[in-house]
Amino acid sequence: MAMEAKVLESLLKEERAFPPPPHFVEKALVKDRSLYEEARADREAFWARQAENIHWFRRWDKVLDDSKAPFYQWFVGGKLNVSYNCIDRHLSTWRRTKAAIIWEGEPGDDRVLTYQDLYREVTKCANMLKELGIKRGDRVTIYLPMIPELPIAMLACARIGAPHSVVFGGFSAEALRDRINDCQAKLVITADGGWRRGNIVPLKKNCDEALAQCPSVEKVVVVRRTGQDVNMTAGRDYWWHELMAKAPIGCPPEEMDAEDMLFILYTSGTTGKPKGVVHTSGGYLVGVSTTHRLIFDIKDDDIYWCTADIGWVTGHSYIVYGPLANGCTTVMYEGSPDWPERDRFWAIVEKYGVTILYTAPTAIRAFMKWGTQWPARRDLSSLRLLGTVGEPINPEAWMWYYKYIGGERCPIVDTWWQTETGMILISPLPGVTTLKPGSATVPFPGVEAAVVNSSGEEVPLGSGGYLVIKSPWPAMLRTIYGDPDRYVQQYWSKFDGMYFTGDGARWDEDGYFWIVGRVDDVINVSGHRLGTMEIESALVDHPAVAEAAVIGKAHEIKGQAISAFVTLKEGIAGTPQLAEELKAHVAKKIGAIARPDDIFFTAELPKTRSGKIMRRLLRDIAEGRVLGDTTTLADPSVVSQIKQQYESQEA
Ligand code: PRX
Repeated sequence: MAMEAKVLESLLKEERAFPPPPHFVEKALVKDRSLYEEARADREAFWARQAENIHWFRRWDKVLDDSKAPFYQWFVGGKLNVSYNCIDRHLSTWRRTKAAIIWEGEPGDDRVLTYQDLYREVTKCANMLKELGIKRGDRVTIYLPMIPELPIAMLACARIGAPHSVVFGGFSAEALRDRINDCQAKLVITADGGWRRGNIVPLKKNCDEALAQCPSVEKVVVVRRTGQDVNMTAGRDYWWHELMAKAPIGCPPEEMDAEDMLFILYTSGTTGKPKGVVHTSGGYLVGVSTTHRLIFDIKDDDIYWCTADIGWVTGHSYIVYGPLANGCTTVMYEGSPDWPERDRFWAIVEKYGVTILYTAPTAIRAFMKWGTQWPARRDLSSLRLLGTVGEPINPEAWMWYYKYIGGERCPIVDTWWQTETGMILISPLPGVTTLKPGSATVPFPGVEAAVVNSSGEEVPLGSGGYLVIKSPWPAMLRTIYGDPDRYVQQYWSKFDGMYFTGDGARWDEDGYFWIVGRVDDVINVSGHRLGTMEIESALVDHPAVAEAAVIGKAHEIKGQAISAFVTLKEGIAGTPQLAEELKAHVAKKIGAIARPDDIFFTAELPKTRSGKIMRRLLRDIAEGRVLGDTTTLADPSVVSQIKQQYESQEA
């Protein structure tokens, strides 16, 4: 089995251990194991106590309702408003004038919004949305670059009870179209463009292309960011700055039910169609604010920077909702880490005195490759805590991060979670947990995770299997938008009563979790999830292609690279030009992140007798491994032929 082989690889013993440094423990919010004990004694009481940190218009009647499992409900009967919690609550304190968002654009422009500024902008935006006919329950799609208008628009939606669906600015017009249509958005908020490595990403143009096939959309609001000419359709498109200039300040927050939808976020799965992951209000906010505060040890004087894009769940939970609910200062950066030079991240840390940095292993591996001279040019002494997310971090990258960025004084929190989990589920608490490079360590208090075999039985410590979550947690997804059966089937059907993560993992003798990666047909490219089926359907959409199989191949920086095995229609030759054309075709259909790294033309694909493509054999070929079991193949000679061809092409 490919997964077992991978688990074995990860058994390469990592012996290094880093207990929390005394200088850190001394000031840490959590210094001992009492939270773990409290949560173990009574999980619901633990989460209820955390929920006290949120402002409720009406207190909940019941912490957890499992009567309709797996459609769990949290804080049943509770009423709150997420935007009120992220903004208004801080206005009656000294934090009114504290920086809520420190933003820096790629060209070097910057903007600081205090909590009072955020209140003004968000309530104006909420009034603008209402004026455009948006009511509680209407869906709003947001397709923006990393500019302050993005969190402002999200919080304005939350204020009036209109669920948002943020679509990452790197997605193509077609991907945007599908996401708008799936949730039947009434309004789209976009920008003329965004900056990326000095170039303009043409968001409005993509949006116009998408909207030609989105009948649900009535209005479009366009933020002016890059300033080039864009097409504005009369009666449909409005400039953000013009409407905002007319919108009044102050907008009462809607009283939302704890279980009302806060947002939809699309993520890839094992079919060609992205899933609309639904998150609700009360449990989500309790989950993200608690984990943000305790895992990142948030103090009032911290300058916290999560480098993710808000188009992904990391940005939703740990740039916007978690930090702002905690009254924290959150840094946002628009562009690329190597623009104008490869020290941009370190320049930002130095300029704002960032104390907590949360980034991805793929970025760390790129920094390693660029060399230590870049961080060495800047003063990083303000940093006190580091974090990673998105994919397994290899111990060498962990050690590099620890030494060259953290100056050997900052603990590293390796946080495991997913779009679906909404909040971090497995992570150290930096003042308590001894770190082991490469391990996300242990479940957060109040979270029960385990490693099980294919029958759902827990495997002994020291062995590997499937990662499951044994009981519900507050920020969990509630369903797949418009497809509750898929929710049940995908997450709750493999193992009775347990949430299946789709990840393989090992737990070691100390009960530490070592995440191995996906066990399904999902690839993790630079910490972003892509479904192999999605890329395959994009390839097959090209007129020259008969069939395609896509796999993730180990890659030094990206974690996994996309390799496509393609069979062409009769009489078409597999030329290098065609390979380039196919790559461009996928980028157009999905977005540049899905562009295959290599395309390999083959006469046939290995299939079982029932016609299922055996991707694991293709992975074995691409990664140069001995071929696994081929006995179930319809024609075992196909795979050895592909292997020979592949190896001769590689050579
Ligand atoms: O395979 C795991 C990996 O990323 C997947 C979730 O992807 P996504 O929903 O896009 O969310 C990414 C950001 C939360 C997981 O199933 N993953 C995430 N964090 C880690 C990780 N793998 C290992 N270690 C992590 N810390």
